[in-house]
Amino acid sequence: MVSREESARRTDRALASDNYAGAHPEVLAAVAEANTGHVGAYGADPVTAEAVSTVRGHFGDGVEVAFVVNGTGANMVGLQLLVRPWDCVICADTAHIAVDECGAPERFLGVKLVDVTTPDGRLTPDDVRRACSGRLDEHQVQPRVVSIAQATELGTVYTPEEVSAIAATTHDLGLYLHMDGARLANAAASLGVGLAEASTACGVDVLSLGGTKNGAVLAEAVVVALPGGAEYLRFARKQAMQLVSKMRFVSAQFQALLADGLWLRNAGHANAMAARLHDAVRDVPGLTVSRPRQANAVFARVPGDAVAPLQAVTPFYEWDSATHEVRWMCSWDTTEEDIDTFAAAVREIVPRHARGGRALSPG
Ligand SMILES: Cc1ncc(COP(=O)(O)O)c(C=O)c1O
Repeated sequence: MVSREESARRTDRALASDNYAGAHPEVLAAVAEANTGHVGAYGADPVTAEAVSTVRGHFGDGVEVAFVVNGTGANMVGLQLLVRPWDCVICADTAHIAVDECGAPERFLGVKLVDVTTPDGRLTPDDVRRACSGRLDEHQVQPRVVSIAQATELGTVYTPEEVSAIAATTHDLGLYLHMDGARLANAAASLGVGLAEASTACGVDVLSLGGTKNGAVLAEAVVVALPGGAEYLRFARKQAMQLVSKMRFVSAQFQALLADGLWLRNAGHANAMAARLHDAVRDVPGLTVSRPRQANAVFARVPGDAVAPLQAVTPFYEWDSATHEVRWMCSWDTTEEDIDTFAAAVREIVPRHARGGRALSPG
C-alpha cells in the first residue's frame, strides 16, 4: 500500500486508484456553466431537472433518481430503502460495503452483512441460495437484499446474463437486488452495452451509479428501478446527510457525463489503458496476472522485493501484502505514455527480483 504520508507528498501520475485522477475538463466546464444566477436549492432547479431526465434517458422513464456526493452515501441511501432491522445484506467478502465503508452499513443501516467468499468478486445464484439457508428461522437474521458490484472490486465484470440469473434467484427468494455501480461505466464499456443493459434492465432494483471515477468530482446517484421503491428516497437521502443544497453543481456533472457519451469515452479509455498494461506485462518472468482483466484494473502477483521499487516509479496499492498481489488501476486520464513508462519499469524490475536479486554478475 502507498502510505498516506507518502501519497500526501506525491503528485506524480499514479495507478493507485481512479480517484487519484482529477475531473474531466468538460465536467468542470459544465459546473462553471451552471454557476449562473440564482436557482432553487436542494434540487429544485432546471439543471437538476435536465440531469434527472438524462439519467431517465439511460435507465427508463420509470426510475427515480437522487444525486448524492459519494459512493458510500449512495450505497447507504439505496440500501436504506430496502432493509428492516432484522434483515441482512448478502454480498461478496471483497465488497466495498463490507471492507471499505468503515462499518457504515452496520452502524447506519443497523443490519448484518453476510459476506460470501468468491474467487473473483462475483456472486453466483448458488452463493445466494446457500446464504439464504436460515430464512424464516426467527433466530437468524433474514436475508433481504443481495448486493453486487459492477464492475467488482477485483476488476471483474458480470455479463448481463449473469446479472439476470442473480436477479432471478434473488427475486424468486423474495429478496431485492442492489448494485454498487461505482464503476458501472467501466463495466458497460467493457461489455459493449448501455448502462441499463449492464444493470437495471437485468433486474437490478436499486443502483448506486458512479460519476466520480468516471471523470466527475463529488457526483454519484441512486437510481431506483423497483416500482414503488422510491417512496422514501428523498427522506433517506436527507437523513443520510447526502442532500446537497447547491445541487445544480452535482447534477451538472451527470449531465456532462451522460448527455453525449462522455461516460463511454472516459470509461472506454480507462479500460483500454488497462488492456494495454495487461498486454505489456503479462509475460514478464516473475509476474502472474491474478484476476481476469475485464475493466480498468490489472491485478498481478509480483515478487515482494519488487513492490517498493515499482511504487517508486508510479504509486499503486499492494492489494494483499501476504501474497504481494498488486492492483494497477487506470483512469479516464491515464495516458499511453504512463502505461508504457510503467510497463518498461515492470519489465526491468520484476525479473531481477524474481531471481531473488542473486543474478550472476560478470567478473
Ligand atoms: C466498488 C466501490 N463502491 C463505492 C466506492 C465509492 O466510495 P466513496 O466515494 O465513498 O469513497 C468505491 C470507491 O473506491 C468503490 O470502489
